[in-house]
Amino acid sequence: MSGSETSTSWQRSAEPDLDQMRRLVGLVEHDTAADPFPVSGWDAVVWSVGNATQAALFYQTVFGMELLAYSGPETGNRDHKAYVLRSGAVRFVLKGGVDPASPLLRHHRRHGEGVIDIALEVPDVDHCVAHARARGATVVEEPHDLRDEHGTVRVAAIATYGETRHSLVDRSRYTGPYLPGYVSRTSDTRRTGDTGDTGDTSGQARPAGGPGRLFQALDHVVGNVELGRLDEWVAFYNRVMGFTTMAEFVGGDVATRYSALMSKVVTNGNHRVKLPLNEPAVSARRSQIDEYLDFYDGPGVQHLALATSDIITTVDVLRARGVEFLDTPDAYYRDPGLRARVGEVRVPVEELRTRGILVDRDEDGYLLQIFTRPIGDRPTVFFEFIERHGALGFGVGNFRALFEAIEREQARRGNL
Ligand SMILES: [Fe+2]
Repeated sequence: MSGSETSTSWQRSAEPDLDQMRRLVGLVEHDTAADPFPVSGWDAVVWSVGNATQAALFYQTVFGMELLAYSGPETGNRDHKAYVLRSGAVRFVLKGGVDPASPLLRHHRRHGEGVIDIALEVPDVDHCVAHARARGATVVEEPHDLRDEHGTVRVAAIATYGETRHSLVDRSRYTGPYLPGYVSRTSDTRRTGDTGDTGDTSGQARPAGGPGRLFQALDHVVGNVELGRLDEWVAFYNRVMGFTTMAEFVGGDVATRYSALMSKVVTNGNHRVKLPLNEPAVSARRSQIDEYLDFYDGPGVQHLALATSDIITTVDVLRARGVEFLDTPDAYYRDPGLRARVGEVRVPVEELRTRGILVDRDEDGYLLQIFTRPIGDRPTVFFEFIERHGALGFGVGNFRALFEAIEREQARRGNL
């Protein structure tokens, strides 16, 4: 069976279909038979946030995500509140500590807003864990079953960079909204008044009239790792998870006057899960990766790229709702080299310029992309929105233009 012909249960239950997914995130053919660590796709991105109750509302009203499920004191979870949201095939789980002794609060105190778990859907949890353990991975959660009236989920977790983990999830025998312990909550939930129905007081409802779906899939999740340890982490993904190294950006490609980084990308067989990894490179001034490592207090997820089929609308709606994007210098669009480099794209360059959307082309096609400012108080995690037209890369031609824009922001914060 060809791996690219399989879709995860999550993909089957939600738009987009496999063909759309192939266009959105650039899938390639892959034979899973020879794969030592088969991965079907992303399961969820699990966040530690300072206020999950409010963050859930933000991701519904601003990012247009739908609320799916909830866990908290009202459902027997006295440690934290957790909200499960989705947009297309993207699933976020937002967790905020309730019990003062919750480990989530310790995590948040140290790192601020951040991703604690890049959960992956795998067809055989035990097989993956056995392989990972034999190749030296730290198993932070042994394989076990979670059960409720909706069925059984098999889960385990292995450690990756910093305090980040990869949960490995097989939900093929489960029909519930997320995991046992969670109850269904929808964005359309309306309270019917003071009926004393306490079961309805926990989920956050998205107000009517909010935006529709602004992104359909998770394209890649980028990690920042320690100086000098990039190759070690690339080797970890190669050895432990059978991921291949799909691209390398080093030195001159991404160095600007003050910043430099080294970046390599590892991916699973069909490229559904793409994990670029950065480390700071020696440069004249503090690089953006150094700034991240200082303020996150260690390695962690730097950005998530969300795939959209209409980046113009996505950016217009998000900006109207207050999301701030990095500025792109006008010089980027005036550069005659830009048009020569990218050729024909679906929207006039002027439309891109007014929104600050970047464009890049590789041998397979082109892509449009834009980056938000950090989403929390610390200069750490941010989002990218990406619209692919065949291109399988990450916008390497934009790296210099992008980093120059980031450095202007760093200078404004006094961190350059
Ligand atoms: Fe990216």
